[in-house]
Parts: sequence; C-alpha cells; structure tokens
Amino acid sequence: MALRITVIGTGYLGATHAAAMAELGFEVLGLDVVPEKIETLGAGRAPMYEPGLEELLRAHVAGLPGSSGRLRFTTDFAEAGAFGDVHFVCTNTPQKHGEYASDMSYVNSAFTSLAPHLSSDALVVGKSTVPVGSAARLKRLLAEQAPEGVELAWNPEFLREGFAVQDTLHPDRLVAGVESERAEKILREVYATPIAEGSPFVVTDFPTAELVKTAANSFLATKISFINAMAEVCEAADGDVVKLAEAIGYDERIGPKFLRAGIGFGGGCLPKDIRAFMARAGELGADQALTFLREVDSINMRRRGHMVELAREALGDAGFLGRRVAVLGATFKPDSDDVRDSPALNVAGQIHLQGGQVTVYDPKGMANARRVFPTLGYADSALEAVRGADIVLHLTEWREFRDLDPAELGRAVAQRVILDGRNALDSAAWREAGWTFRAMGRPKA
Ligand code: UDX
Repeated sequence: MALRITVIGTGYLGATHAAAMAELGFEVLGLDVVPEKIETLGAGRAPMYEPGLEELLRAHVAGLPGSSGRLRFTTDFAEAGAFGDVHFVCTNTPQKHGEYASDMSYVNSAFTSLAPHLSSDALVVGKSTVPVGSAARLKRLLAEQAPEGVELAWNPEFLREGFAVQDTLHPDRLVAGVESERAEKILREVYATPIAEGSPFVVTDFPTAELVKTAANSFLATKISFINAMAEVCEAADGDVVKLAEAIGYDERIGPKFLRAGIGFGGGCLPKDIRAFMARAGELGADQALTFLREVDSINMRRRGHMVELAREALGDAGFLGRRVAVLGATFKPDSDDVRDSPALNVAGQIHLQGGQVTVYDPKGMANARRVFPTLGYADSALEAVRGADIVLHLTEWREFRDLDPAELGRAVAQRVILDGRNALDSAAWREAGWTFRAMGRPKA
C-alpha cells in the first residue's frame, strides 16, 4: 500500500512540501498549531505568495471541486500520529532574539507533541535547517518519548522562494541522512519520481546531512559577498563589476550564477543560516574554520549602508531632510512577498530615520512591508511612488521595474535621478531618457 505522509508545520517549507507530496500521488495530512493557517490551506489558498503553490493546493485539497482529495489539514497531533507512515517535520528555526544561534523551540515542540502519538513503525524525517548535532539529540528524544521502533532520518530542504514548487518537485539533489537501510528505502520510495527523473540521491550520516544545508547556504552567501567586495574595488578603481562577473563566470569552475552585485542578500534563510552556523561552530570549538563568514556577513550589511550613502551623495549637501525618496521594491527578492531581513526595506528604513520622505512600492510585498514598517509611505504603483521624487531607488529587481518606461517616469519626478541597487535596469535606456543613472560597482557614466 502507498505510504501515507504527514507534514508537521505548514509554513513556507511545509505548505509547499505537503502540496508537492500530494502532487506526487501520496495521501497527505498537513498539521499546524495555528488554526488560521489550517483554515487558509484547507480552503485551497496559499498563506504566502509563491508561484504555482495555489494551483497545487486547489488540485489536491480534499473537499474542493475537482480536487484529487489527497491533501487534508489538521491541528491534532493524535490524528497525525495515527495517519502517517512518514512524518516530515518542517517547522522553522528563526534566529534567536539578540543572538546568532537559531531558535529550536518550534522543532523541539513538534517532536515532543508528535512522539507519543506515533506508531512503532513510523519514520520521522527532519527537514528544518538545524544546527549540526540536532538530529542526534532528537533521536534521543524519540527514544525517550516515542514507542520503540520509531526511526529518524534527516532530509534537508534546499528550496528557493519563488521557485519552491519547482525546487521541491525537481530538486537539484536529495540528501538522506539515515541510520538504517529501512529508512533509506522509505525515503527512496517517497522520492521515487524525482529520483527516476534524474535527481541525485546522496545517502549520508546525520551530521553530514545537517551540514550540507548550512554549507550550501554559506557558499551561496560567500559568492554574493565576494562579488560585492569586487563591486567595492570596482567603484574605487572605476571598473565595472557587471562585466567582471560576466567574464569570471565563463570559467566553469566559477559559473555565472549568484554573481549579481548590489545591495546584498536578505530573506529568511541566508543571513540567519550563516550566523547560526558560526554560532554552532563556536560551540564545537571549530569557529576558526568559519571566521570568514563573519566577513561575508559584514560585507553584506555594508552594502545597505553604502546604498544609503550613494543616495545621500546624489542628493547633495542638504541630505535627506525633507527630500522625497521613491523606493521601488520592498521584498528581499522578486517573485516573493517576503520582507524578512529585506535589504530594500532596510535601506528605505534607514533613509526614513534620517529624515527622508520615503514612498515605497512593491508588486507583492506591500501588505507585509506595511505590517513591519508602518511609518513608511506607500503607493499603489511605481508611477505613484515616484511622483514628485527627488531620487528613485531601485532595490528589488522585479520584472515590472525592468519594464518601466523611463520617459513616462521622468515626467512624474521632481528630479531625474535613479540609483540601481540591483544592477538590473537598462542603464542606456534610462540615460537616454535624461536620467542621471548610477549603479553599484559600475562607472558613474
Ligand atoms: C536561499 C537558497 O538559495 C536556498 O537554496 C535555501 O534553501 C534557502 O535560502 P532564498 O532565501 O529563497 O533561498 O533566496 P535566494 O534566491 O538564494 O536569494 C537570497 C538573497 O540573495 C536575495 O536577497 C537575493 O536578492 C540575493 N542575491 C542572490 C544577490 O544579491 N545576488 C545574487 O547573485 C543572487
């Protein structure tokens, strides 16, 4: 009989994983302790903006017209325990308040709540991003609190926001931290479709599986901070970091991806993951190995301050006081409504605190931005945001912004000055329309 799957925690990762598992043909029960989330998902609505997710929910959530009925949701751990053969734990691990380490309380409480309800042949699979050593500790927790026979596996998730469905259904690789052949066999069965389609399946021990995730994110963060360090040098030497990235990217060992210089990385993963990784390495006495990550973090944070400085410089002596600053973009990257640790919103906030009259527009992130930063000004379109502006800052590279007509915007602003914090706009087109155009790590004109 086909395996039955539960997904514990239906946030970003869990909601996508649950929908993807139903799409792969499994009967799935998603659990969350927040009843509103369960209600939203149960009605076939995605709790966040993620391309393709709502379509999957509508195709599978039980009770919706024409759905497969394979996907249901609950808040009841006893129901989850009785339902599933395989239980994926997808709760989040945010950065602890005022510390670098990650907060494991949601993962811990998911395990504690689920453990007594499990059947003795259940496999619990951790997917959350956790400090190395957590799986070993959670295995001991299960040994104490779950029926004998329950097993643990660790199967980190690498999905990107905006591509979450695609990354889940067609992963670059699958990593299985297992301690038995049976656990490996079950995971191979769960992922039979992507494996058949060519996704590599890497079998390893618990600590390596946990580390693969933090190492991958640290490498990506390092790549971005490397190119941003080059942007600093390019600016000092009047070079062009975009050309430089193109040229080094042709070397297959380097590759062209993740070499976009700009205001740096944000979001719910990269910043907190590199900090948690440093904290954990410190606890293990291996912190020297990761000291470079401190530099990766500080280069990244410097980019935001640098954007603010470029804007101040462009406005001249009077600085921001009483000046109108239009900010295009609030989310940490395009095709997402996520504003967690968003460089764009951080820059907008800094300028606001320095007396600028900031007006923000973002295609999908307005509700979240208003919630976390209610004191900023907001507009309903790019054109409205730039009306009367002394300077325009392009801070998240949405397609909509690349498609803007510089001539039309030029007629709305007080001064035609634009700073491209993402190196994504067509500088020639803006300059042709009479704009002073400045980008990061590129020659002034
Ligand atoms: C990231 C990892 O890519 C993913 O594998 C992991 O599972 C979770 O963390 P995500 O947070 O969705 O995914 O965003 P990603 O696309 O990696 O971008 C992160 C940040 O880096 C964004 O703020 C983006 O604007 C920035 N970035 C990315 C750059 O500044 N330059 C680049 O070249 C690429």
